[in-house]
Amino acid sequence: MSLAQRRILLGVSGGIAAYKSCELVRRLRDLGAEVRVVMTEGATRFVSATTFQALSGQPVRTSLWDAEAEAAMGHIELARWAERILVAPASADLIARLAHGLANDLLTTVCLASAAPLYVAPAMNQQMWAHPAVQANVETLRQRGVRLLGPASGDQACGDIGSGRMLEPLELREALVASYGDQALHGLKVVVSAGPTYEDIDPVRFIGNRSSGRMGFAVAEAAAQAGAEVTLVAGPVSLATPPGIARRIDVRSAAQMRDAVVASTANADIYIGAAAVGDYRPAQVAEHKLKKHDGAPLELRLAENPDILATLAAQTVRPFLVGFAAETHDVERYARDKLARKGLDMIAANQVGGGLGFEAADNALTLYSPEGTIELPRVSKTELARQLVARVAERYRAVRP
Ligand code: CTP
Repeated sequence: MSLAQRRILLGVSGGIAAYKSCELVRRLRDLGAEVRVVMTEGATRFVSATTFQALSGQPVRTSLWDAEAEAAMGHIELARWAERILVAPASADLIARLAHGLANDLLTTVCLASAAPLYVAPAMNQQMWAHPAVQANVETLRQRGVRLLGPASGDQACGDIGSGRMLEPLELREALVASYGDQALHGLKVVVSAGPTYEDIDPVRFIGNRSSGRMGFAVAEAAAQAGAEVTLVAGPVSLATPPGIARRIDVRSAAQMRDAVVASTANADIYIGAAAVGDYRPAQVAEHKLKKHDGAPLELRLAENPDILATLAAQTVRPFLVGFAAETHDVERYARDKLARKGLDMIAANQVGGGLGFEAADNALTLYSPEGTIELPRVSKTELARQLVARVAERYRAVRP
């Protein structure tokens, strides 16, 4: 189980179960989650903001009108920051306000301003929970797609016995872990290379290629979402680091990429080479800008670049190796040839041209491994990356149980 780098906003409303939410913060952080806490005015009557601040390691917000906090991370930023919002405990009053779309305090405002899935863990006296007004509000939330967690039945702080107890912290945590789906790469270190390489000719010119890096970045993000600790080695691209990436190393040339990949795969489990590594570089980089010479042709001598995948494949202890093959024709023949020649565990091949490939938003892949062939039909690069990562995880678990 992992919640590494997951951004969880915990909303705490006024109820005695708030003391259990302190424990919840610890348990979420145990799994690597970043937790930010927003408390209602009522919640502060039960537990102090200082407690949550110490446990979350982050400033705790209690008011919409805190000028200093709004200047640091405003409520809209907080709403955008959150990947999941969990309100625990959710009092009858808070549930009513959520059901009716009120924004009369910070927590309800953030819930309205966020696109993140909302999880609500009710906690109240059994009589209150059973009240038709509460049940109607809960039904409204359910219809709207809010996920209700609990409540459980049992002894209540007020002495009653019945339904209305907040779920235990570990049960709430489990629901959040499950909300992220299959953690197929949990506990594994994955290195992904992405983008083109640039090989300098002189101080102002280079040889590059049309890789945008989008496929590789999507693969890195999907691997992080599947629970891996991801290092992203990026050639020159203009892309923001996706959420959840443990480390990003920016490089320019194939030689720099080779060094970064070799160093970061030293204890990695999987390497996915999505970068379009330049096969050649100018044998010499001119110290000064090259000048024209009266129409005489310019000759560039090119030297072959190191093959990163082949370098890794030659090591005695090597990660599971996944290559990419972008081909304009004879895709299967070239891809199978690369699989064998480079000693890979899997290769993801695609036809470039016809609106697919380097600069397109969509892509389609065929995966070849010694085991067989899998077609991944045309979808967005994000979805394709997710499917690719799922297949890599399957194959990895099959050969390295
Ligand atoms: N690759 C690599 N190091 C290189 C060149 C390529 O690690 N110097 C990796 C790419 O990251 C990709 C795979 O090899 O995963 C296929 O790259 P490609 O350029 O298609 O393969 P080549 O071996 O260069 O074959 P060819 O140019 O003959 O098609």
